[in-house]
Amino acid sequence: MPTRIKNLEHYQALCKKAIDDPTSFWDEQAKSFHWFEPYTEVLQWEFDTPDVKWFIEGKTNICYNCLDVHLEDHGDDTALIWEPNDPTEAFKKFSYDELHKAVCKTANALKAMDISKGDRVVFYMPMVPELAIGILACARIGAIHSVVFAGFSAQALADRVDDAQAKMIICSDYNERGEKSIPVKAIVDEAMDISCNSVSHVLVHKNTGNPINWSDDVDKWWHEKMDNMPTECPVEIMDSEDPLFILYTSGSTGKPKGVVHTHGGYMVYTAYSFQNVFQYEPGDIYWCTADIGWITGHSYIVYGPLLSRATTIMFEGVPSYPDASRFWNIVEKYKVNQFYTAPTAIRALMACGDEWTEGHDLTSLKVIGSVGEPINEEAWHWYNEKIGCFKAPIVDTWWQTETGGIMISSIPGVTDCKPTYAAYPLPGVQAVLVDPSGEEIREYNSEGLLCISFPWPSMIRTTYGDHERCKQVYFSAFEGKYFTGDGARTDSEGRIRVIGRVDDVINVSGHRIGTAEVENAINAHPRVIESAVVGYPHEIKGQGIYAYLICSGDSELDDTVRNEVIEVVRREIGPIAKPDKIQFVPALPKTRSGKIMRRILRKIAAKEFDQLGDVSTLLNPQIVAVIKENAL
Ligand code: PRX
Repeated sequence: MPTRIKNLEHYQALCKKAIDDPTSFWDEQAKSFHWFEPYTEVLQWEFDTPDVKWFIEGKTNICYNCLDVHLEDHGDDTALIWEPNDPTEAFKKFSYDELHKAVCKTANALKAMDISKGDRVVFYMPMVPELAIGILACARIGAIHSVVFAGFSAQALADRVDDAQAKMIICSDYNERGEKSIPVKAIVDEAMDISCNSVSHVLVHKNTGNPINWSDDVDKWWHEKMDNMPTECPVEIMDSEDPLFILYTSGSTGKPKGVVHTHGGYMVYTAYSFQNVFQYEPGDIYWCTADIGWITGHSYIVYGPLLSRATTIMFEGVPSYPDASRFWNIVEKYKVNQFYTAPTAIRALMACGDEWTEGHDLTSLKVIGSVGEPINEEAWHWYNEKIGCFKAPIVDTWWQTETGGIMISSIPGVTDCKPTYAAYPLPGVQAVLVDPSGEEIREYNSEGLLCISFPWPSMIRTTYGDHERCKQVYFSAFEGKYFTGDGARTDSEGRIRVIGRVDDVINVSGHRIGTAEVENAINAHPRVIESAVVGYPHEIKGQGIYAYLICSGDSELDDTVRNEVIEVVRREIGPIAKPDKIQFVPALPKTRSGKIMRRILRKIAAKEFDQLGDVSTLLNPQIVAVIKENAL
């Protein structure tokens, strides 16, 4: 097992060791995993290219380390608990032995369908056990999984399938979320009609059994393919640097990019961070409420916990169904010890009132976590009081799809927890603040741009099919540093508080949405001449989406256009990217070189009218007053 940080002195010593001798520090973290062949070197790196390799020439397989290594002594321990959307339905439990068998069957079925090492398999599924089983099966045979969040539209799914050149899509018939039943297979059908030419089969898991369209050539039932498959399947021996998965995430420009993670480094770091941040002890019941469609679900529902022989809960539903006490019912039902959720869920539940938490026995909780966006002070205190009962420390964990694992977080019992501060980097993470010129800011009590100046094992290796983009986005802003895209500040003792994105990415309910993507979708409406999208503070979602539109034609049709624009965004990206506010404007504020002044639009959207600054140098300064006057 990776090193367990015991106390503050130990933490400080490990931080020092990781800087002075990173090779031996990470060797220490990696050696307890199963390597079919040992690595010959710990790290080779070069940020400019970027070219980063960890555990060089080591041969391993993350699925083997998640399952097989536990079987001999702990095969009967519970690996996965699945809680269905409908609380009156039976939950499911998988021991490590059962999960291993299910994964092997699935791996054999995939092989029988001609999926092999290096092939890409896209998952478009609800939170059912088959999703976790499916991605582990891919890892087992060396296929590269790419999970697409099942809230994305057919177009967004098709874009990702095409970019990954996936050979197979695995989906369910329907997705049960709260009172909704979402026709997942029908959305896949639509994506297949749009493009997805690389896909030879769609493997369909029967979740509800409700009617779906079927094409005999392409569609195959999951249960039929699993029938009679052997429950043993040899693992593919993977090089440390072989890709494990691609996960698409939004940036400030262009289409979402496929972040690539690897078997070796990702394995070491997710286990190391999981065990330390959550202080997981054998026998604990751990629950992360994220969806496996996002990185949090990959790293901290599936891989980190299973590598650590934990019991991990997977929840199909939503926090508000059948009512706002659902989370706390589940905590009570399974006696959850570590609970990990997002500020948007905390704020939404807080807004429902305290009566939903009252009367629930939450005393099993030892650590409660937050991820995905800054947690505001009010939500932090509510979480601390009502859920943590002033006893379970809050870990505010900062990280990204690209970092693969938690980078900055308090460590319970080791470092303190301060409201709204993610606090300190984990040992081995060299986080620095820089000013816009790239100069490091060493003084505390400062504000700057958050960078990481040394590699860590689970860092992004490339953006799938476009290495240059990886270099441009992350490694070109500041020489010799990985740039996170976030702004941060430090307090007088060096704790870090991540403020939010400094690029054109909006964080809506903890989901990253690129303004360019939303604008492209909006511009597809025939009456839209130009649009500009910015984020604005939103009480529940953290940030909401504010769209400024220049439209042609009659303003009496504005309401129709508004609804149609929302529909276009839903169709092109998905409901998560729908604008919350749409303002029609006669023009957008522009610089003399024709660039939209988003800073001004952001201030107007936030109603910070006194902070517009000097607008006189704009090409069209008079427009600012007009937009301001009609702000929503
Ligand atoms: O802006 C930061 C914010 O979420 C971004 C990463 O989004 P994504 O790749 O979707 O991964 C989310 C889950 C790891 C970051 O660039 N973010 C994430 N965690 C925090 C945060 N902002 C403030 N505090 C956090 N704890």
